[in-house]
Amino acid sequence: MSQYETILVEKQSDGVTLVTLNRPKALNALNSQVLGELIEAFADYDGDDSQRCLVLTGSEKAFAAGADIKEMQDQGFADMYKANFFGGWEKVTATRKPWIAAVAGYALGGGCEVAMMADFIIAADSAKFGQPEIKLGVTPGMGGSQRLTHAVGKAKAMHMCLTGEMMGAEEALSSGLVAKVVPADKLLDEAMATARTIAGMAPLAAMANKEMVNAAYEMTLAEGIKFERRLFHGLFGTEDQSEGMKAFVEKRPGNWKGK
Ligand code: CAA
Repeated sequence: MSQYETILVEKQSDGVTLVTLNRPKALNALNSQVLGELIEAFADYDGDDSQRCLVLTGSEKAFAAGADIKEMQDQGFADMYKANFFGGWEKVTATRKPWIAAVAGYALGGGCEVAMMADFIIAADSAKFGQPEIKLGVTPGMGGSQRLTHAVGKAKAMHMCLTGEMMGAEEALSSGLVAKVVPADKLLDEAMATARTIAGMAPLAAMANKEMVNAAYEMTLAEGIKFERRLFHGLFGTEDQSEGMKAFVEKRPGNWKGK
């Protein structure tokens, strides 16, 4: 049972946590309550050894149509600056275990930005990504200008931010924004199956793979390669490394301990 009001959280026995944004009347607009509940749910997931992958999804019509415009409209600079508005999303991106965004329908503004915070996105063929903040007289504020540019390159990111036009699922796939596109009615099945695959891997190796791929955004190639090698060496201090290699030689699946 979920103790939250704006999200639903289901922890499954196969190690996958499903989090569903649940403000359907507002197309899952991301207000402060949603953020607060997501921070709590993601921290709980990260600290729960029984859970090894998480899927974040929305509704058929909207993953999320952005930050809540009604909550922001009367704010001034002092309010936003003092509250470090949106700063809390860094707690979500600090999640060390893997998580996937399963996106159908609108992923606009903050919705697109949250999807891009995930380790990867699986999209329904109905998905529409966009950064329409310019039409509200502002800019992305949850990392969109940076993550979108990293994902699709300057030309497409600049075009999307300056025109507010949406990008469909197929273009998102060919541009590198999403990992996979599936028919809308298969979205959750596909995302959950992928999450179960990841949940079946050695947990420390999953965390380390995530950490090193993310390091590619922050480091030079030489630093990143060194970082990768040190972390790779470090895994040779884990029981799961010896178990994984032994299991391969014995032609059986690994029995992971997460240590
Ligand atoms: N914030 C608050 N409420 C929102 C919302 C948002 N981002 N998006 C939709 N809603 C609300 C609408 O106000 C409407 O509520 P009422 O029934 O009370 O009027 C309800 O959700 C349904 O929306 P629509 O009637 O507009 O639905 P539609 O099917 O006609 O249009 C849409 C869908 C094209 C997604 C349209 O809702 C829309 O353009 N939404 C806003 C998209 C946007 O500008 N997002 C960026 C927000 S700013 C941001 O995210 C900043 C940042 O960088 C983080």
